[in-house]
Amino acid sequence: MENHETNSIILEVRKKLDIVQVISQYVSLVKKGKNYFGVCPFHDDTNPSMSVSPEKQIYRCFSCGASGNVFSFVQEFEHLSFKETLYQLAEKAGVQLQNISYTKKNDQYDKFYEIYQISHNYYLNNLQTNLGKKAKAYLHERSISDEMIKEFQIGLSLDIPDDLIQLLIKKGYNLSDLNMIGLANSNRDLYCSRIMFPLKDLSGRIVGFSGRRYDGIKDNKYVNTKGTPIFQKGTILYNYFDAREAIRKKNQVLLMEGFMAAIRSITVGVKNVVSLMGTAMTKEQVDLLKRLSNNVVLCLDGDDPGREATLLNGEELEKKGFNVRVVELSDGLDPDDYILKYGADSFRSLIENAISFSDFKIRSLRKGVNFSSDKEVSNYINQVLIEASKITDEIRRELILKTLAKDYDIGYNTLEKRLSTYLEKTPKKESSPPVQIVIKPKTLKHNKYELAEWSLLYYMLINHTVRNWFELGKFNFSTEQERFLASEIIYYYKLYGTLVPADFYTYLQDKKELLNLLNHVLALELEDEVSDQAIEQYIRVVRENSVNLEIERLKKTMSEKNDPLEKARIAERIRKLKMGSG
Ligand code: UTP
Ligand code: MN
Repeated sequence: MENHETNSIILEVRKKLDIVQVISQYVSLVKKGKNYFGVCPFHDDTNPSMSVSPEKQIYRCFSCGASGNVFSFVQEFEHLSFKETLYQLAEKAGVQLQNISYTKKNDQYDKFYEIYQISHNYYLNNLQTNLGKKAKAYLHERSISDEMIKEFQIGLSLDIPDDLIQLLIKKGYNLSDLNMIGLANSNRDLYCSRIMFPLKDLSGRIVGFSGRRYDGIKDNKYVNTKGTPIFQKGTILYNYFDAREAIRKKNQVLLMEGFMAAIRSITVGVKNVVSLMGTAMTKEQVDLLKRLSNNVVLCLDGDDPGREATLLNGEELEKKGFNVRVVELSDGLDPDDYILKYGADSFRSLIENAISFSDFKIRSLRKGVNFSSDKEVSNYINQVLIEASKITDEIRRELILKTLAKDYDIGYNTLEKRLSTYLEKTPKKESSPPVQIVIKPKTLKHNKYELAEWSLLYYMLINHTVRNWFELGKFNFSTEQERFLASEIIYYYKLYGTLVPADFYTYLQDKKELLNLLNHVLALELEDEVSDQAIEQYIRVVRENSVNLEIERLKKTMSEKNDPLEKARIAERIRKLKMGSG
């Protein structure tokens, strides 16, 4: 991004987009005063510690310090390069980019993405040929229509040991790369005779496959791409890229286990769904969910592993502050089976009536209890009361007590008394925490001199008089970084005649230390209106600091000198400085 033209396009794109609107598409924001607040997606959090300033067009997290403009937000969030981000945002802003020499070739993984794209097209085509008849019949048999095959880009690997590899080698790719990225096993295709589901990364590029057996093969039902430089199974969710809009609109995400579950659900119009590709859920996947919505409906398979995973995953999600609900499917069905058997409406009503995670836990406590044993019953009731004590809704707690009292013929008061002992032990948790703005007292750490210097830098960004005074030499800064930033501010003004912090961020983007300092400066959140007197006061403090620093420097020099005359001369200068006439 070196030429002028590119810079002006960046500026144009930035100007046409409102940072509040763009970030709202990723994180829900609440207005408070001048700024907007939301949960920061760049660290593990449940508090709204990220602020977005419509005035300065920047965002900042009080907690982890992440900050920047609309470009850096999208770049970090989507894991894109700057160029890719510019492309995406330019499109959003309706700005033409033809003039930019956008050469994708410099990304070291571009070759791998290319190979995946070629392989994907190859698999897609296979399914449409004569060799794909059997696989197609299998798919139709499973009620996967031709439209669905197209929509979900389902393909087929052939019963030929090295068909794909030969094709790729002919195109000039080398075998060791194909091995590394999980398409070859030594000199053979990794996938033979499987129905191929493409797996996309967070920006929608195909980076892996899951191949399902369909024809006589006895080994693994699914073969997934192993870990490669561009793919790790635990760091993506199936359908994540395509579901983002639907999830944000509903502010709810359905979490399923399998491909078929997600595909079927989407086909019947329930589109806010992602799949784990198995029952295990990783920390990275939790983070991905956090980016989408705080409301998760667990919709795992209705078998024992599914129920166990619901308990485990639900617990984990609740710990991370999600609001978790559960859909229980009967008879070991998965969402695909369920929809085929009972229809879409029935499935939709299951989701609408999803039970709370605590209700699910209470229900699942019944499992394996021998209800003819008094000891086991009493143990069970205690467990239920412990779970009930975590429920914040009093009415629901009362309902649970009533049911227990009736079912086991125990006095309501006895149960209530026991519950109250558990209630005391449970830390109070708010059912839906109101927006609290947590400001870590990080900004209070610096001393008054640093504060004064940074305040002056802050006002140099927005106030013409302060910039003039700096240029006239009325004040200066004590560190090289600060002086450097100040001169960049002056330079930027001379160049553009105006300074929007968001654009200044872009301008500084290769100067990491300056960006860092700029963040600290903007973090001061000072009043933008300022009097000359206030500025003069900052300047006095800064001068006092520079005098002190000069005195210290002189003392050090003095101690290094042996000549008494020279010592005396330095001592005199120190005295003058102390008197304020230095
Ligand atoms: P399931 O066994 O429930 O498969 O595994 P499914 O999605 O219902 O598929 P069909 O209906 O049998 O065709 C759930 C998910 O676990 C992963 C896959 O992502 C699958 O969708 N899995 C399962 C594997 O990765 N490997 C396997 O061998 C089995
Ligand atoms: Mn299934």
